[in-house]
Amino acid sequence: MKTLKIAAIPGDGIGKEVVPAAIDVLNTVSDIHGGLTFDFTSFPWSCEYYLEHNKMMPDDGMERLQDFDSIFLGAVGDSNLVPDHISLWGLLIKIRREFDQVINIRPAKVMSGVRSPFINPKDFDIVVVRENSEGEYSAIGGNIYNGEDELAIQNAVFSRKGTERVMRYAFELAAKRKKHVTSATKSNGITYSMPFWDKIFKEIAKEYPEISTDSQHIDALSAFFVTRPERFDVIVASNLFGDILSDLGAAIMGNIGIAPSANINVNGKYPSMFEPVHGSAPDIVGKGIANPIGQIWTAKMMLDHFGEEDLGNTLLTVIESVTNDGILTPDLGGKHSTKEVTNEIIKRLIAVD
Ligand code: NAI
Ligand code: MG
Repeated sequence: MKTLKIAAIPGDGIGKEVVPAAIDVLNTVSDIHGGLTFDFTSFPWSCEYYLEHNKMMPDDGMERLQDFDSIFLGAVGDSNLVPDHISLWGLLIKIRREFDQVINIRPAKVMSGVRSPFINPKDFDIVVVRENSEGEYSAIGGNIYNGEDELAIQNAVFSRKGTERVMRYAFELAAKRKKHVTSATKSNGITYSMPFWDKIFKEIAKEYPEISTDSQHIDALSAFFVTRPERFDVIVASNLFGDILSDLGAAIMGNIGIAPSANINVNGKYPSMFEPVHGSAPDIVGKGIANPIGQIWTAKMMLDHFGEEDLGNTLLTVIESVTNDGILTPDLGGKHSTKEVTNEIIKRLIAVD
Protein backbone atom coordinates (compact mmCIF):
# COMPACT_ATOMS: atom_id res chain seq x y z
CA MET A 1 0.00 0.00 0.00
CA LYS A 2 1.39 3.37 -1.04
CA THR A 3 0.24 6.34 1.03
CA LEU A 4 0.86 9.86 -0.20
CA LYS A 5 0.83 12.63 2.37
CA ILE A 6 -0.70 15.69 0.77
CA ALA A 7 -0.87 19.19 2.23
CA ALA A 8 -4.08 20.77 0.94
CA ILE A 9 -4.20 24.57 0.91
CA PRO A 10 -7.57 25.64 -0.49
CA GLY A 11 -6.66 29.32 0.01
CA ASP A 12 -9.22 31.93 -0.98
CA GLY A 13 -12.40 32.32 -2.99
CA ILE A 14 -13.25 29.41 -5.27
CA GLY A 15 -10.11 27.63 -4.07
CA LYS A 16 -12.32 26.56 -1.14
CA GLU A 17 -14.86 25.15 -3.59
CA VAL A 18 -12.65 23.37 -6.11
CA VAL A 19 -10.06 21.87 -3.75
CA PRO A 20 -12.64 19.80 -1.80
CA ALA A 21 -14.12 18.71 -5.15
CA ALA A 22 -10.73 17.51 -6.39
CA ILE A 23 -10.03 15.78 -3.06
CA ASP A 24 -13.29 13.81 -3.48
CA VAL A 25 -12.10 12.79 -6.93
CA LEU A 26 -8.67 11.74 -5.65
CA ASN A 27 -10.27 9.69 -2.89
CA THR A 28 -12.35 7.93 -5.55
CA VAL A 29 -9.18 7.28 -7.55
CA SER A 30 -7.70 5.73 -4.43
CA ASP A 31 -10.83 3.58 -3.85
CA ILE A 32 -10.74 2.13 -7.36
CA HIS A 33 -6.99 1.61 -7.31
CA GLY A 34 -6.69 -0.23 -4.02
CA GLY A 35 -2.92 0.11 -3.63
CA LEU A 36 -2.85 3.87 -3.29
CA THR A 37 -4.22 6.14 -0.57
CA PHE A 38 -4.03 9.84 0.07
CA ASP A 39 -3.55 11.23 3.52
CA PHE A 40 -4.76 14.84 3.27
CA THR A 41 -4.02 17.52 5.84
CA SER A 42 -5.79 20.79 5.18
CA PHE A 43 -4.29 24.16 6.10
CA PRO A 44 -6.49 27.27 6.41
CA TRP A 45 -3.79 29.68 5.22
CA SER A 46 -5.51 32.42 3.29
CA CYS A 47 -6.44 36.10 3.37
CA GLU A 48 -8.91 35.40 6.20
CA TYR A 49 -6.08 33.76 8.12
CA TYR A 50 -4.06 36.93 7.50
CA LEU A 51 -6.74 39.14 9.04
CA GLU A 52 -6.52 37.12 12.23
CA HIS A 53 -2.77 36.55 12.42
CA ASN A 54 -1.26 39.33 10.33
CA LYS A 55 0.55 36.75 8.20
CA MET A 56 -0.46 34.36 5.43
CA MET A 57 1.00 31.32 7.18
CA PRO A 58 2.43 30.69 10.65
CA ASP A 59 6.14 31.23 11.25
CA ASP A 60 6.80 27.51 11.13
CA GLY A 61 4.52 27.07 8.09
CA MET A 62 7.29 26.07 5.71
CA GLU A 63 8.67 23.52 8.17
CA ARG A 64 5.22 22.02 8.53
CA LEU A 65 4.89 21.66 4.77
CA GLN A 66 8.35 20.25 4.26
CA ASP A 67 7.58 16.64 5.14
CA PHE A 68 4.58 16.27 2.85
CA ASP A 69 4.89 14.40 -0.43
CA SER A 70 3.26 17.28 -2.24
CA ILE A 71 1.23 20.44 -1.85
CA PHE A 72 -2.20 20.73 -3.44
CA LEU A 73 -3.15 24.38 -3.66
CA GLY A 74 -6.34 26.12 -4.79
CA ALA A 75 -5.95 29.86 -5.27
CA VAL A 76 -4.65 32.75 -3.25
CA GLY A 77 -5.93 36.30 -3.22
CA ASP A 78 -8.80 38.40 -1.95
CA SER A 79 -7.93 42.02 -2.57
CA ASN A 80 -10.91 43.20 -0.51
CA LEU A 81 -9.17 41.78 2.54
CA VAL A 82 -5.43 41.87 1.77
CA PRO A 83 -3.46 43.52 -1.07
CA ASP A 84 -2.56 40.93 -3.70
CA HIS A 85 1.20 41.45 -3.44
CA ILE A 86 1.09 40.60 0.27
CA SER A 87 -1.14 37.52 -0.08
CA LEU A 88 0.60 36.04 -3.13
CA TRP A 89 4.15 36.66 -1.91
CA GLY A 90 3.29 35.51 1.61
CA LEU A 91 2.03 32.11 0.51
CA LEU A 92 2.13 31.02 -3.12
CA ILE A 93 5.35 32.63 -4.28
CA LYS A 94 7.01 31.97 -0.94
CA ILE A 95 6.40 28.23 -1.38
CA ARG A 96 7.55 28.23 -5.01
CA ARG A 97 10.79 30.01 -4.11
CA GLU A 98 11.74 28.47 -0.78
CA PHE A 99 10.99 24.93 -1.92
CA ASP A 100 13.20 25.24 -5.02
CA GLN A 101 10.29 24.61 -7.37
CA VAL A 102 12.48 25.39 -10.32
CA ILE A 103 10.35 23.99 -13.12
CA ASN A 104 6.84 24.99 -14.05
CA ILE A 105 4.78 22.61 -16.16
CA ARG A 106 1.72 23.82 -18.00
CA PRO A 107 -0.12 21.33 -20.21
CA ALA A 108 -2.66 22.56 -22.71
CA LYS A 109 -5.03 20.46 -24.72
CA VAL A 110 -8.24 21.18 -26.48
CA MET A 111 -10.83 19.06 -24.71
CA SER A 112 -13.67 17.57 -26.62
CA GLY A 113 -16.79 19.66 -25.96
CA VAL A 114 -14.87 22.76 -24.86
CA ARG A 115 -15.02 25.69 -27.23
CA SER A 116 -11.62 26.88 -28.42
CA PRO A 117 -11.03 30.07 -30.41
CA PHE A 118 -9.55 27.71 -33.02
CA ILE A 119 -11.79 26.39 -35.74
CA ASN A 120 -10.20 22.98 -35.92
CA PRO A 121 -8.13 22.57 -32.78
CA LYS A 122 -8.45 18.87 -32.15
CA ASP A 123 -4.75 18.13 -32.43
CA PHE A 124 -3.64 20.69 -29.89
CA ASP A 125 -2.12 18.69 -27.04
CA ILE A 126 1.10 20.14 -25.69
CA VAL A 127 3.07 20.65 -22.50
CA VAL A 128 5.17 23.74 -21.86
CA VAL A 129 8.12 23.00 -19.58
CA ARG A 130 9.23 26.35 -18.27
CA GLU A 131 12.45 27.15 -16.43
CA ASN A 132 11.18 28.83 -13.28
CA SER A 133 14.16 30.02 -11.26
CA GLU A 134 16.39 32.18 -13.43
CA GLY A 135 16.48 33.39 -17.03
CA GLU A 136 14.97 36.76 -17.80
CA TYR A 137 13.30 37.05 -14.38
CA SER A 138 16.50 37.69 -12.47
CA ALA A 139 17.03 40.25 -9.76
CA ILE A 140 20.28 41.47 -11.25
CA GLY A 141 20.31 44.93 -12.71
CA GLY A 142 19.72 48.49 -11.73
CA ASN A 143 18.71 51.99 -12.61
CA ILE A 144 20.95 54.99 -13.03
CA TYR A 145 20.70 58.70 -13.90
CA ASN A 146 17.65 60.85 -14.30
CA GLY A 147 16.05 62.80 -17.05
CA GLU A 148 17.08 62.09 -20.60
CA ASP A 149 20.06 59.96 -19.48
CA GLU A 150 17.93 57.74 -17.26
CA LEU A 151 18.41 54.05 -17.96
CA ALA A 152 17.50 50.61 -16.64
CA ILE A 153 19.47 47.39 -16.98
CA GLN A 154 18.12 43.92 -16.27
CA ASN A 155 20.38 40.95 -16.75
CA ALA A 156 19.17 37.52 -17.81
CA VAL A 157 20.83 34.61 -16.02
CA PHE A 158 21.29 31.22 -17.68
CA SER A 159 23.31 28.70 -15.68
CA ARG A 160 24.43 25.36 -17.09
CA LYS A 161 22.83 23.66 -14.08
CA GLY A 162 19.46 25.38 -14.49
CA THR A 163 19.39 24.94 -18.25
CA GLU A 164 20.39 21.28 -18.21
CA ARG A 165 17.85 20.37 -15.57
CA VAL A 166 14.89 21.96 -17.34
CA MET A 167 15.89 20.30 -20.61
CA ARG A 168 16.33 16.88 -19.03
CA TYR A 169 12.91 17.25 -17.47
CA ALA A 170 11.42 18.04 -20.89
CA PHE A 171 13.05 15.00 -22.52
CA GLU A 172 11.95 12.66 -19.75
CA LEU A 173 8.41 13.94 -20.13
CA ALA A 174 8.46 13.62 -23.93
CA ALA A 175 9.58 9.99 -23.56
CA LYS A 176 6.18 9.31 -21.97
CA ARG A 177 4.28 11.24 -24.66
CA LYS A 178 4.70 11.72 -28.40
CA LYS A 179 8.52 11.72 -28.11
CA HIS A 180 9.20 15.14 -29.50
CA VAL A 181 10.81 18.18 -27.84
CA THR A 182 10.81 21.67 -29.31
CA SER A 183 13.22 24.21 -27.90
CA ALA A 184 12.01 27.82 -27.73
CA THR A 185 14.99 29.97 -28.63
CA LYS A 186 15.88 33.37 -30.00
CA SER A 187 19.54 32.91 -30.82
CA ASN A 188 19.24 35.02 -33.93
CA GLY A 189 18.65 38.10 -31.79
CA ILE A 190 19.91 37.35 -28.27
CA THR A 191 23.57 36.62 -28.81
CA TYR A 192 24.96 35.18 -25.57
CA SER A 193 22.32 33.42 -23.56
CA MET A 194 20.31 31.89 -26.40
CA PRO A 195 23.25 30.34 -28.31
CA PHE A 196 24.23 28.88 -24.90
CA TRP A 197 20.67 27.57 -24.53
CA ASP A 198 20.89 26.03 -28.03
CA LYS A 199 24.25 24.41 -27.27
CA ILE A 200 22.95 22.76 -24.11
CA PHE A 201 19.77 21.65 -25.91
CA LYS A 202 21.92 19.83 -28.47
CA GLU A 203 24.03 18.22 -25.74
CA ILE A 204 21.03 16.94 -23.79
CA ALA A 205 19.30 15.78 -26.98
CA LYS A 206 22.23 13.40 -27.56
CA GLU A 207 21.36 11.64 -24.30
CA TYR A 208 17.89 10.87 -25.69
CA PRO A 209 18.36 9.46 -29.21
CA GLU A 210 14.79 8.10 -29.26
CA ILE A 211 13.32 11.61 -28.92
CA SER A 212 13.06 13.80 -32.01
CA THR A 213 13.78 17.51 -31.63
CA ASP A 214 13.50 20.85 -33.28
CA SER A 215 14.45 24.34 -32.30
CA GLN A 216 12.29 27.34 -33.14
CA HIS A 217 12.68 31.03 -32.60
CA ILE A 218 10.05 32.18 -30.16
CA ASP A 219 8.33 34.51 -32.62
CA ALA A 220 7.90 31.84 -35.28
CA LEU A 221 7.06 29.28 -32.62
CA SER A 222 4.19 31.43 -31.34
CA ALA A 223 2.84 31.72 -34.86
CA PHE A 224 3.13 27.93 -35.39
CA PHE A 225 1.20 27.37 -32.14
CA VAL A 226 -1.70 28.94 -33.96
CA THR A 227 -1.20 27.70 -37.52
CA ARG A 228 0.32 24.24 -37.00
CA PRO A 229 -0.63 23.15 -33.47
CA GLU A 230 -0.34 19.45 -34.31
CA ARG A 231 3.42 19.67 -34.78
CA PHE A 232 4.10 20.17 -31.05
CA ASP A 233 4.43 17.82 -28.11
CA VAL A 234 6.72 19.11 -25.34
CA ILE A 235 8.14 22.62 -25.56
CA VAL A 236 11.07 23.57 -23.36
CA ALA A 237 11.40 27.27 -22.71
CA SER A 238 13.13 29.89 -20.60
CA ASN A 239 11.27 31.67 -17.83
CA LEU A 240 9.92 34.51 -19.98
CA PHE A 241 9.26 32.55 -23.16
CA GLY A 242 7.59 29.79 -21.15
CA ASP A 243 5.39 32.29 -19.33
CA ILE A 244 4.10 33.72 -22.59
CA LEU A 245 3.74 30.38 -24.40
CA SER A 246 1.83 28.79 -21.56
CA ASP A 247 -0.71 31.62 -21.49
CA LEU A 248 -1.08 31.26 -25.24
CA GLY A 249 -1.62 27.55 -24.72
CA ALA A 250 -4.29 28.20 -22.08
CA ALA A 251 -6.05 30.63 -24.43
CA ILE A 252 -6.10 28.04 -27.23
CA MET A 253 -7.49 25.51 -24.78
CA GLY A 254 -10.49 27.80 -24.46
CA ASN A 255 -10.85 28.63 -20.80
CA ILE A 256 -8.80 29.50 -17.74
CA GLY A 257 -11.04 27.42 -15.47
CA ILE A 258 -9.68 24.15 -16.88
CA ALA A 259 -5.94 24.96 -17.08
CA PRO A 260 -3.67 23.03 -14.68
CA SER A 261 -0.07 23.58 -13.60
CA ALA A 262 2.67 22.08 -11.49
CA ASN A 263 5.69 23.60 -9.79
CA ILE A 264 8.31 20.93 -9.58
CA ASN A 265 11.11 20.50 -7.07
CA VAL A 266 13.70 18.36 -8.80
CA ASN A 267 16.34 17.96 -6.09
CA GLY A 268 13.96 15.93 -3.91
CA LYS A 269 14.56 18.10 -0.85
CA TYR A 270 11.10 19.65 -0.79
CA PRO A 271 7.60 18.83 -2.01
CA SER A 272 6.36 19.94 -5.41
CA MET A 273 3.19 22.00 -5.65
CA PHE A 274 0.18 21.41 -7.87
CA GLU A 275 -2.26 24.26 -8.54
CA PRO A 276 -4.66 25.34 -11.25
CA VAL A 277 -3.74 28.37 -13.33
CA HIS A 278 -6.82 30.37 -12.35
CA GLY A 279 -7.15 32.64 -9.33
CA SER A 280 -9.77 32.93 -6.61
CA ALA A 281 -12.47 34.26 -9.00
CA PRO A 282 -14.16 36.68 -6.55
CA ASP A 283 -16.89 37.40 -9.11
CA ILE A 284 -18.37 33.89 -8.84
CA VAL A 285 -17.39 32.85 -5.33
CA GLY A 286 -20.13 31.22 -3.26
CA LYS A 287 -22.38 30.54 -6.23
CA GLY A 288 -21.41 26.89 -6.56
CA ILE A 289 -20.57 27.29 -10.23
CA ALA A 290 -16.76 27.32 -10.19
CA ASN A 291 -15.34 25.00 -12.80
CA PRO A 292 -13.58 22.19 -10.88
CA ILE A 293 -11.75 20.83 -13.94
CA GLY A 294 -8.59 22.95 -13.59
CA GLN A 295 -8.14 21.67 -10.04
CA ILE A 296 -9.02 18.08 -10.97
CA TRP A 297 -6.66 18.10 -13.95
CA THR A 298 -4.03 19.42 -11.53
CA ALA A 299 -4.71 16.28 -9.48
CA LYS A 300 -4.00 14.22 -12.60
CA MET A 301 -0.61 15.92 -12.85
CA MET A 302 0.05 14.98 -9.25
CA LEU A 303 -0.77 11.34 -10.05
CA ASP A 304 1.66 11.48 -13.01
CA HIS A 305 4.31 12.98 -10.76
CA PHE A 306 4.08 10.01 -8.42
CA GLY A 307 4.46 7.56 -11.29
CA GLU A 308 0.74 6.76 -11.50
CA GLU A 309 0.44 7.76 -15.15
CA ASP A 310 -2.14 5.08 -15.93
CA LEU A 311 -4.44 6.44 -13.25
CA GLY A 312 -3.70 9.99 -14.36
CA ASN A 313 -4.58 9.16 -17.96
CA THR A 314 -7.77 7.40 -16.89
CA LEU A 315 -8.76 10.49 -14.94
CA LEU A 316 -8.13 12.77 -17.93
CA THR A 317 -10.12 10.48 -20.23
CA VAL A 318 -13.02 10.60 -17.79
CA ILE A 319 -12.84 14.41 -17.54
CA GLU A 320 -12.93 14.62 -21.33
CA SER A 321 -15.89 12.26 -21.58
CA VAL A 322 -17.78 14.58 -19.21
CA THR A 323 -16.94 17.73 -21.23
CA ASN A 324 -17.72 15.89 -24.44
CA ASP A 325 -21.22 15.13 -23.14
CA GLY A 326 -21.83 18.80 -22.38
CA ILE A 327 -21.78 18.48 -18.61
CA LEU A 328 -20.22 21.88 -18.17
CA THR A 329 -20.16 24.81 -15.75
CA PRO A 330 -21.40 28.23 -16.95
CA ASP A 331 -17.90 29.51 -17.84
CA LEU A 332 -17.86 26.82 -20.56
CA GLY A 333 -21.38 27.65 -21.69
CA GLY A 334 -23.06 24.96 -19.58
CA LYS A 335 -25.68 24.99 -16.85
CA HIS A 336 -24.13 22.61 -14.37
CA SER A 337 -22.77 23.28 -10.90
CA THR A 338 -19.35 22.48 -9.44
CA LYS A 339 -20.96 19.57 -7.58
CA GLU A 340 -22.71 18.16 -10.64
CA VAL A 341 -19.57 18.16 -12.76
CA THR A 342 -17.55 16.66 -9.90
CA ASN A 343 -20.12 13.97 -9.16
CA GLU A 344 -20.31 13.03 -12.82
CA ILE A 345 -16.53 12.60 -12.93
CA ILE A 346 -16.69 10.47 -9.78
CA LYS A 347 -19.54 8.37 -11.16
CA ARG A 348 -17.70 7.68 -14.41
CA LEU A 349 -14.44 6.90 -12.59
CA ILE A 350 -16.26 4.22 -10.62
CA ALA A 351 -17.82 2.91 -13.85
CA VAL A 352 -14.36 2.60 -15.49
CA ASP A 353 -13.33 0.35 -12.67
P1 NAI B 1 -9.13 34.74 -11.79
O1 NAI B 1 -8.47 33.62 -12.47
O2 NAI B 1 -9.49 34.56 -10.38
O3 NAI B 1 -10.49 35.11 -12.59
C1 NAI B 1 -10.49 35.56 -13.95
C2 NAI B 1 -11.86 35.27 -14.56
O4 NAI B 1 -11.96 33.86 -14.83
C3 NAI B 1 -13.04 35.61 -13.67
O5 NAI B 1 -14.11 36.10 -14.44
C4 NAI B 1 -13.40 34.28 -13.04
O6 NAI B 1 -14.76 34.18 -12.68
C5 NAI B 1 -13.05 33.29 -14.14
N1 NAI B 1 -12.61 32.00 -13.58
C6 NAI B 1 -11.40 31.73 -13.05
N2 NAI B 1 -11.36 30.46 -12.61
C7 NAI B 1 -12.57 29.94 -12.86
C8 NAI B 1 -13.15 28.66 -12.62
N3 NAI B 1 -12.46 27.65 -12.04
N4 NAI B 1 -14.43 28.48 -13.00
C9 NAI B 1 -15.14 29.45 -13.59
N5 NAI B 1 -14.64 30.68 -13.84
C10 NAI B 1 -13.37 30.92 -13.47
O7 NAI B 1 -8.20 36.02 -11.96
P2 NAI B 1 -8.38 37.50 -11.34
O8 NAI B 1 -9.81 37.89 -11.30
O9 NAI B 1 -7.42 38.34 -12.07
O10 NAI B 1 -7.83 37.39 -9.86
C11 NAI B 1 -8.66 37.21 -8.71
C12 NAI B 1 -7.78 36.99 -7.50
O11 NAI B 1 -7.03 35.77 -7.66
C13 NAI B 1 -6.75 38.08 -7.26
O12 NAI B 1 -6.63 38.27 -5.88
C14 NAI B 1 -5.47 37.51 -7.84
O13 NAI B 1 -4.32 38.03 -7.25
C15 NAI B 1 -5.64 36.02 -7.51
N6 NAI B 1 -4.91 35.12 -8.40
C16 NAI B 1 -4.31 34.04 -7.84
C17 NAI B 1 -3.67 33.10 -8.60
C18 NAI B 1 -3.12 31.91 -7.93
O14 NAI B 1 -3.41 31.65 -6.79
N7 NAI B 1 -2.32 31.12 -8.63
C19 NAI B 1 -3.59 33.25 -10.05
C20 NAI B 1 -4.30 34.37 -10.58
C21 NAI B 1 -4.92 35.29 -9.77
MG1 MG C 1 1.67 34.40 -16.91
